[in-house]
Amino acid sequence: MSHAPASPHALEPRHVKFDWRDTPVQWLPGDPFANHTINVLHLLFPAGEMWFCRVYNKVLPLITDPQVHADAKGFMRQEAIHARSHEGVLKHYHGAHGIDTRPFTDQIDHLFKHVLGEAPFGWKIGHTRFWIRQQLGTIAALEHFFGYLGHWVLNAKGLDEAGADPVMLDLLRWHGAEEVEHRMVAHTLFKHMGGTYLERVLHMLLVMGLLLHLIHRGNRFMMRADPQRPRLRGFLGSWRASARGGRLPALGHVIAAAARYFAPRFTPGDEGDTEQALAYLASSPAASAAQHGGAFRR
Ligand SMILES: [Fe+2]
Ligand SMILES: [Fe+2]
Repeated sequence: MSHAPASPHALEPRHVKFDWRDTPVQWLPGDPFANHTINVLHLLFPAGEMWFCRVYNKVLPLITDPQVHADAKGFMRQEAIHARSHEGVLKHYHGAHGIDTRPFTDQIDHLFKHVLGEAPFGWKIGHTRFWIRQQLGTIAALEHFFGYLGHWVLNAKGLDEAGADPVMLDLLRWHGAEEVEHRMVAHTLFKHMGGTYLERVLHMLLVMGLLLHLIHRGNRFMMRADPQRPRLRGFLGSWRASARGGRLPALGHVIAAAARYFAPRFTPGDEGDTEQALAYLASSPAASAAQHGGAFRR
């Protein structure tokens, strides 16, 4: 039996371009904590999403269902553009604002190339079904978070009310909308390759711990690197204050989203809103400019 398509239409990459020259480091006025918490995504996505692509490239020849194969290809092409777009923010921070993020991103590169890559801790097990399932399951757990965050950012009125930089907001919402659009792909592929419930639980536990750790460390790194030297306050108290203003998701909601993944009948189709995501993609300034080969600049 062939799987149902992951999206009402074929997953296609949108070749967006963002012009960052007018975007400040504090693109979210008045809330450096939320600003730099969201900035952690730029630190993680370039290496993380290119790793997704490498794993999917390796798995493509093993997929026996044509629909799953087509969705995996569409997914890869979207993720490659996400990675490149977030990399553009880091280049802008370095070139225009003197923030060198390599001390942090070099560690993220190491994580995805060596710990989660083809020879973890020197063991050459990248080609084994076992390791492929662990990689695919880790991607599926991460994708659950990204789908959740994508839905959140599409509805985060607090970012508009705070006067967020329109180019950054469009990057976040365009990416978030594509995460909602392709949210079925990673879960379906993991199951297609024999992923089990027990593995799914373990992957989510690993991913939750890893993301919380990296978001905390990344936030501190960016706060310290910010030339305006924002004051470092307690992490949890700052998060609560930002969440109250709708500029970060409430931590309780993030944990509840993770907990839903543990339901044996979990499916990403029950999360997010495809129609809303596609409506955003139809009106996104960068996605619209891309149709004429242009970049979005405010
Ligand atoms: Fe992505
Ligand atoms: Fe994704």
